[in-house]
Amino acid sequence: MKRVYSGIRATGRLHLGNYMGAVKGMLALQETHDCVFSVVDLHAITTPYDPSSLQQNIREVILDFLAAGLDPQKCKLEIQSRVPQHTELAYLLSTIYPVSRLEDLPTYKDKKAQYPKYINMGLLYYPVLMAADVLLYKGELVPVGIDQEPHLEVMREIARKFNSVYGETFPEPQRFKTEGEYVPSLVGSGKMSKTVEGSYINLTDDLETIKSRLAKAPTDSGAIGGNIPQEGGVANLFTLLRLFGGKEMFTKFVQDYHEKKIRYVEMKEVLAEAIYKELQPIQERRKEFEQNPKLVDEILNTSISQCRQVAEETMKEVKEKMGLVS
Ligand code: TRP
Repeated sequence: MKRVYSGIRATGRLHLGNYMGAVKGMLALQETHDCVFSVVDLHAITTPYDPSSLQQNIREVILDFLAAGLDPQKCKLEIQSRVPQHTELAYLLSTIYPVSRLEDLPTYKDKKAQYPKYINMGLLYYPVLMAADVLLYKGELVPVGIDQEPHLEVMREIARKFNSVYGETFPEPQRFKTEGEYVPSLVGSGKMSKTVEGSYINLTDDLETIKSRLAKAPTDSGAIGGNIPQEGGVANLFTLLRLFGGKEMFTKFVQDYHEKKIRYVEMKEVLAEAIYKELQPIQERRKEFEQNPKLVDEILNTSISQCRQVAEETMKEVKEKMGLVS
């Protein structure tokens, strides 16, 4: 069975972008692969955050994982900082990778621009820790969004370099593409993101909340016609409709757009209902786990101790190869 690893930053409740881009892929993979799914809290602290809400934010992701259908009988769930081998391996891997490559990464440059007063070592180190996450479990497939491809490239480079210097040890992980992976932002450009207020719909949002979030999404006057636009608010609504509304709905509104009779209020209403329909069963399962915190703790403890065992095997091998133990 191929090994799979994926992580989601501990930034609180998951949104539709996380669900379509990552969690749906995880759900499929847990059926057929040997999976570890992680809440990456050590990555979450590389950008400004509030320590007093970190534990809550980790818990929200775990609850969303379980609610979405990740099943501890079928996959391992992990909180990154509770498996200390992640940081240990990251340090060892950092010694074989050039600083200049990390400084050149688009993800690092973006974060520098976004948080000019928060350019810390952890941020530069981010891809090395991420490589360690996956390589610790000798992961081969990584279900994440396309924006993570530069990090996957670093991961493969590190694996190759390690293998050539110290002997064959790690596979070269590949990204696993999931259907409908790119969920656009509600604010007109870019992807749905936790850090952009107004851009996202949470998995826990009720119908009213979804409606009011969609109501604020920008559109045009509805009198333009022709082909639907490639980018901007209207394009994004159509993408969401394609992802959640089904073919018939999508075609109907495209037709309305061509004929300049589109009513965005109606389209948003239909879209809200379609999204809510997908989320409702997830929300029901979430309530069950929320009401049973002991069960959630037990699931985590069992899973994390299994993870530590696998991690320790890799560490032993790595340290032997690097000459750190005899
Ligand atoms: N960088 C990933 C993101 O922002 C999160 C992440 C950390 C991750 N470690 C990982 C994803 C390992 C996959 C595998 O989405």
